[in-house]
Amino acid sequence: MNKGGSAVNETDKKTLLQVENLSIGFTQYVKGTQRRTIQPISDLNVDIKEGEIVAVVGASGSGKSLLAHAVLGILPGNAICKGTILYKGRELTERKKEQLRGNEISFIPQSVNYLDPLMRVGKQVQIGLNKKTAQTKQNELFTRYGLKASDGRLFPFELSGGMLRRVLFATSVREGVKLVIADEPTPGIHPEALSEILKQLAEFTKDGAGVMLITHDIISALEIAHRVAVIKDGRTMEIADSKAFQGKGEGLKEAYTRRLWNALPQNEFAFE
Ligand SMILES: Nc1ncnc2c1ncn2[C@@H]1O[C@H](COP(=O)(O)OP(=O)(O)OP(=O)(O)O)[C@@H](O)[C@H]1O
Ligand SMILES: [Mg+2]
Repeated sequence: MNKGGSAVNETDKKTLLQVENLSIGFTQYVKGTQRRTIQPISDLNVDIKEGEIVAVVGASGSGKSLLAHAVLGILPGNAICKGTILYKGRELTERKKEQLRGNEISFIPQSVNYLDPLMRVGKQVQIGLNKKTAQTKQNELFTRYGLKASDGRLFPFELSGGMLRRVLFATSVREGVKLVIADEPTPGIHPEALSEILKQLAEFTKDGAGVMLITHDIISALEIAHRVAVIKDGRTMEIADSKAFQGKGEGLKEAYTRRLWNALPQNEFAFE
């Protein structure tokens, strides 16, 4: 697949998102009044350029969704978030996050529970669209993602998991989107739809948007990603060019990343 298909020259690309030294902790109350702090993210760094797809990979619980939520400004109230998040070179304040969320910055959440259970899915896809053309656009998006236009009248509980994921995807397609954050957009999706989703993510970059693709599926991500950020226990271990993920991973800098790569079924589960 053409990586991102962007016409912009690599060296000319501007940094869209820069996350530096991000740390996220939670204060929890145990036994009523005793407080303790847990620190799932301690030193995360990642950057995304215009027209670039950066895959964020890491084990379950390594902090991938928290990273996404921090950029979007949707962390829970008890989260203590420190570090720097720059968007187009400027600090992304909580206010700015709220303004951009669902417009310039779009989100494909990991869980289908983000959909409103009491609202027909078609209406949910129409949120934020121009009222006059919303219905046509929704029909168009549903057809593009292998749903029937009439499925728009259904409520979330009437759709299968795979269909709901496609609805979520449709809610992320908006004019003027500059940054797409996709949190595991592909689980439960059959191979044909998977390649369609990857193609659609790559489509976003044609107009210069950047994509953060959070996934467990490194092999699929490598089909479209330019770089891969490897996260372990809330820290960035390495940000490598996608090209480094080949052979025995000789081009990868960190032993952890090489182990991760060689442990994939496609690479014979080889442990160093
Ligand atoms: N609201 C919260 N309060 C306390 N701890 C939390 C909260 N949300 C997440 N965590 C913890 O932070 C860590 C990272 O969670 P996160 O959801 O970012 O993982 P992830 O990498 O997205 O995992 P997965 O691949 O399973 O989706 C986990 O240990 C999780 O338990
Ligand atoms: Mg997650």
